[in-house]
Amino acid sequence: MAITVPPVVAVTRRLPAPVEAALAERFDCRFNASDKPLDAAGLRQALTSSDAVVCTVTDRIDAAVLGVEPVRTRLLANFGVGHEHIDLAAARALGIAVTNTPGVLTDDTADLAIALMLMASRGLGSGERELRAGAWTGWSPTHHLGHRLSGKALGIIGMGRIGRAVARRAVHGFGMRLVYACRTPLPVGETALLDAVPLELDAVFAEADVVSLHVPSNAATHHLVDRRRLALMRRHGILVNTSRGGVVDEVALVGALERGEIAAAGLDVYEQEPRVSPGLLALDNVVLLPHLGSATVESRTAMGMRACENLVAWSEGRPLPDRVA
Ligand code: 8YV
Repeated sequence: MAITVPPVVAVTRRLPAPVEAALAERFDCRFNASDKPLDAAGLRQALTSSDAVVCTVTDRIDAAVLGVEPVRTRLLANFGVGHEHIDLAAARALGIAVTNTPGVLTDDTADLAIALMLMASRGLGSGERELRAGAWTGWSPTHHLGHRLSGKALGIIGMGRIGRAVARRAVHGFGMRLVYACRTPLPVGETALLDAVPLELDAVFAEADVVSLHVPSNAATHHLVDRRRLALMRRHGILVNTSRGGVVDEVALVGALERGEIAAAGLDVYEQEPRVSPGLLALDNVVLLPHLGSATVESRTAMGMRACENLVAWSEGRPLPDRVA
């Protein structure tokens, strides 16, 4: 009787316990006990010694890392939707498949975008800082006035799963008016349901009170929000970014906020994570979160299980449910 050896799977970061248990049940797993992000040498070691790698946004798997000889890995099962940290073309050239985990983090990431809108428009971060600093002197009719979100115009850039989930919350929950820019227009039914108005990209920046970014990070979206587009925004405008840091020129954003060209920003992602521009840290009208979009037990568990499903399909020779390369 042939003995089948389970594939060796390197898991680059610690994952929720049920996910690690599910992986360990099916594969010969090499977990990263320290949870420290792997450097290029650590990633090369994983690629040469494992049949598959479960990787995350903190793993820079570029052509140089993939160029290591001999690559044993046949599948990169990314834990997360965004895969800009993986050179898909280089992986493809080496015959390495890449999968991601779409759908399962949509609601939590959309919730976080709405939270950032509320925090930024009502100045909730600075309000909390004031109180914790012992600087609150008591209620007054004009103390710490923010702006109402309800009824304002929301401009969404990118109407994929998360963009649409934000749109539903904003329109049906807050009575916001929706304008959007997207390569693929919304289907007729959804357009009617959301009363959504498609506009050119620049027009969304000029028209919206709040602009929320929901595009993937790639060459076409790099610094999509630059000095010129920030200058198009309304002076009371708010920029919210839960997509990827590279979509916004952080230096230009600091300048626009300092000059009062826009009123506030709510950010969950940064150009050089975990580094945040000192200019942003110095501003009181910016809400800064540490990349928490999908940071719920529910999402992170579901993401891991989805990565596991892709690994199982791969190990059984079935089509990969979430193949991106
Ligand atoms: C993840 C994300 O936390 O899925 C994504 O694209 O940005 C986040 O939800 C991160 O990417 C995990 O690798």
